[in-house]
Amino acid sequence: MSINPFMMMNNIEKSFNGVQVLKNVTLQVQEGEIHALLGENGAGKSTLMNILGGVHQPDNGSIHIHGNVVKMANPRISMEQGISFIHQELNVVADLKVYENMFLGSELRSKIGFLKVEEMCKKTSEILAKLGVEINPKEYVRNLDTSYKQLIEIAKSLLHNSKLIIMDEPTASLAEHEVSRLFELMKNLKNSGVSIIYISHKLKEIKEICDVYTVLRDGEVVGTGSIKNENLDSITKLMVGKSISEDRLVKSNKFGNVLLEVNNLSSQGLYKDINFSVRKGEILGFTGLAGDGRTELFESLFGYRKKYTGEIKINNQLVKIDHPRQAVKAGVGLVPKDRKENAIIKDLSVIHNMSLSSIGSFEKNGFIQDKVEKEKFQYYKEKLNIKVHNPTITIDKLSGGNQQKVIIAKWLEVDTDIMIFDNPTQGIDVGAKQEIYQHIISLAEQGKAIIILSSEAPEVLKVCHNINVMYQGEITARFKGAEATEDEIMSYATGSKRGA
Ligand SMILES: Nc1ncnc2c1ncn2[C@@H]1O[C@H](COP(=O)(O)OP(=O)(O)OP(=O)(O)O)[C@@H](O)[C@H]1O
Ligand SMILES: [Mg+2]
Repeated sequence: MSINPFMMMNNIEKSFNGVQVLKNVTLQVQEGEIHALLGENGAGKSTLMNILGGVHQPDNGSIHIHGNVVKMANPRISMEQGISFIHQELNVVADLKVYENMFLGSELRSKIGFLKVEEMCKKTSEILAKLGVEINPKEYVRNLDTSYKQLIEIAKSLLHNSKLIIMDEPTASLAEHEVSRLFELMKNLKNSGVSIIYISHKLKEIKEICDVYTVLRDGEVVGTGSIKNENLDSITKLMVGKSISEDRLVKSNKFGNVLLEVNNLSSQGLYKDINFSVRKGEILGFTGLAGDGRTELFESLFGYRKKYTGEIKINNQLVKIDHPRQAVKAGVGLVPKDRKENAIIKDLSVIHNMSLSSIGSFEKNGFIQDKVEKEKFQYYKEKLNIKVHNPTITIDKLSGGNQQKVIIAKWLEVDTDIMIFDNPTQGIDVGAKQEIYQHIISLAEQGKAIIILSSEAPEVLKVCHNINVMYQGEITARFKGAEATEDEIMSYATGSKRGA
């Protein structure tokens, strides 16, 4: 490493309520370098970045920019030092327009103080165009899909001529083509001398885009070096303390009766002529790009959307599902995507977030059974390695990935015959991902019919007996999991091959 990096964090220490979460952490970032910051959920990545971004103050240690010590007393000072921060928690304000979000706190004004609305809109469009996004700058953010909210966060960081951009899981809810545009942009930034600290649990991304890595484990640096010299397996080992197999996890299985059958299901503008069935014991995957209609299709099956034509049969009985309550009664459960937005109750404790569910199983005679609740919590805490020192603290004190684990655990407990998981491992580290897959597989082995929706082909390849690929609202290919390849799946998902 060179003697004078652009940015250095030196011997950083931090505790919350007496629990030390960063121990003697040193991190050096050179000019024009993309630096991967890696580690399990709760390892301390976001906390370290919050210290660099002036959100938290370290208990000990120093930050150096071009060799000079800088005290990042608040986010503004960090910004003035040329640091932009794309937060893991989306910070966009739903009740503001896109351009208002972009310029929040740095509005453009004329000499006499009027807002330069048109100029801000023009700039917003220009930056979004670089990311390949076409949205009206005057649209309210609340009307946009989560992936756009993430793109607005990214665009915001590009507004200021930053020297260092912190990206804390920027691709969590982006589709493939959005990710590749972001990567193009990152390469351009890097070539113009901008440094990037990149946090992601998608190790393939790390290999593709990053130059250098640093791994945190329980708040300590356990390894750093050039990405080129490492394979992903050794980095995984550093992160979680063991290798993770890339092999298919699901074994062939004897399937029982058809539990769910869908015939000619269509909903105008969303999906068309959908036919499939799932049997007892089967895990069926649906994959494709954003906008392929799979989320909407299964929202219909769960009663969130009323307008569809065609047949849904459960246990060979024709059913009409107009409301989630009917779906649950008919034996269908859905774990929604974007759980951060939809499923977490921020000011409730960790343990209550896990047990409270409108269709949960902990409630008996109107009150929650404390003991059962605690036992279940303990079970999943160990199983999914949920990092929490005290389960009665509010859930927003947990790291992003640990919040996800709590919510997934809640849904794994829902006892319905047909389970639909939309994007089950978003934001979850490689070790816990494997545990979640195993759990889903054991649900199938117990005789449930499982459907997994995922934008990641490797995920469906690992856990599904059968895979359907969707493109523009239609099923364009059906594979046996053991026979499919990532390339084949992608060629149907992108529309370059068709015909199911
Ligand atoms: N404001 C806070 N109060 C108390 N504890 C906190 C607070 N912020 C973070 N922590 C704790 O610090 C530890 C590190 O969390 P951090 O968010 O840095 O993890 P992370 O590496 O970013 O994980 P993830 O991959 O899940 O995002 C966790 O145990 C978390 O519960
Ligand atoms: Mg984090």
